[in-house]
Formats: sequence, C-alpha cells, structure tokens
Amino acid sequence: MSEYSAQASSEDKINGTVTGDNVRKRLGIIATCVVGGSLVALYAVAGPFVAPALRKICLPYVPATSVQVENVLKVLQQRSGSLVDIGSGDGRIVIAAAKRGFRAVGFELNPWLVWYSRYRAWKEGVHHSTSFYISDLWKVSFAQYSNVVIFGVPQMMEQLEDKLGKELQSSARVVACRFPFPSWVPDDMAGEGIDTVWVYDAKTFQSKVQINQTEK
Ligand SMILES: C[S@@+](CC[C@H](N)C(=O)[O-])C[C@H]1O[C@@H](n2cnc3c(N)ncnc32)[C@H](O)[C@@H]1O
Repeated sequence: MSEYSAQASSEDKINGTVTGDNVRKRLGIIATCVVGGSLVALYAVAGPFVAPALRKICLPYVPATSVQVENVLKVLQQRSGSLVDIGSGDGRIVIAAAKRGFRAVGFELNPWLVWYSRYRAWKEGVHHSTSFYISDLWKVSFAQYSNVVIFGVPQMMEQLEDKLGKELQSSARVVACRFPFPSWVPDDMAGEGIDTVWVYDAKTFQSKVQINQTEK
C-alpha cells in the first residue's frame, strides 16, 4: 500500500466515526422528542378522564344508556323551559332535551367532553338551544334552572341534595339517574335496574325541609 492510500483510509475511518456519532446523537434527540411528545399528548388527552377519580368525590365518565335518556325525557314530558345536566359527559342528555324543545345546558369538568358536546350539538343542529361549560359542579349555582338532571354517584348525593335544596326555585324538578337522593322522597320514577330515574319536585322536598325545621 502506498503512503498516500494508507493516509486516505485512516482519514475515512475518522470521518466515518464522527458522522456515525452525529447520526446516533440526532436519532437519540428525535427519539427523546417523540417519546416525550407522546407522553405529553397522552397526559393531555387521558388526564381529564382520570382527574375525576382523584377528587374527594370520584364521579367518573359513564355515559347514560339510551333507555336512561328516554326515561329522563319521559318524566319531563309535561315540562318546558330550561334544563341543566350536572356533569354532562358527552352531552347526550343535553342534546336530547334540546331536541324536545328545552333550552339545555351542560356543566362538565372534562374539557375534551365539553368540546365534543359542542361539536355534537352543532352536528345535530341544536347548537342554538344548547350551551356547554367547563365548570366544577360544586362551584356553580343551579338556581336559574327549572329542570335539573344528575347522573351521579351515591357518595355525592347527600351533599348535592343539600346544595339543590337551598338553590332551586319551588317550581323546579330534579331527575336523578341510576342513584336516588338519600333523604328526599321521590314524586315519581320511571324505568328499572340501571336505567331507573327518580323524580323530585322542589315544592315537595322544600316543604319537607320546612316541616323538619318547624319541628326542631
Ligand atoms: C356519570 S357521568 C354522566 C355523564 C352524562 N350526564 C350522561 O348521563 O351521559 C358524570 C360526568 O360528570 C363529570 N364530572 C365529574 N366531576 C365533576 C365535577 N366536579 N364537575 C363537573 N363535572 C364533573 C365527569 O367527567 C362525567 O362526565
């Protein structure tokens, strides 16, 4: 081998190593970005669904069945005006109520579900008679609504009973899906099993509160 060709091959070796290192470094950075970005995206999407489970009262996203929605509408047949779904999920109750002529509103903690509800309401042509808010149900007053729907969990019903008892007007009606309120006596009910809904008229539960207070 000539002196010239020996020198050339050793330079190639050095260049080759340097180039290989650079490529590996770049691949490392890209892999870190991809993994990091995916984790951030996963957290952003899944976080709001997991967050309710980490709260003091865990109210997970479980959508109402279509029979449940029909039962809600059945017990509200003779009613009109405004309706609120407390923890409105993907907006199915609000949208179904709007289709029956209610001015319907949903309060929901999960922003993805709120954006999806708005999209569904627009797609189904009821966006003018529906509103969806990203809100914590414990920080909202429901005083202005004449029909209130809640698909909650047993752990929250006593506290919610107290809140609604104080806030609602005497003409309001409350519909509880799947889990009844612990102290109020229902005025009506519909459906069976997991699709049962209980109806409570404010004039009934508010008069009971007054009787209890005068007895004390
Ligand atoms: C059992 S799901 C009912 C969904 C909907 N109402 C339906 O019947 O299809 C309860 C919903 O309440 C929401 N939620 C949980 N905690 C909440 C809070 N503090 N304020 C507002 N919404 C809440 C959950 O994200 C979930 O979508």
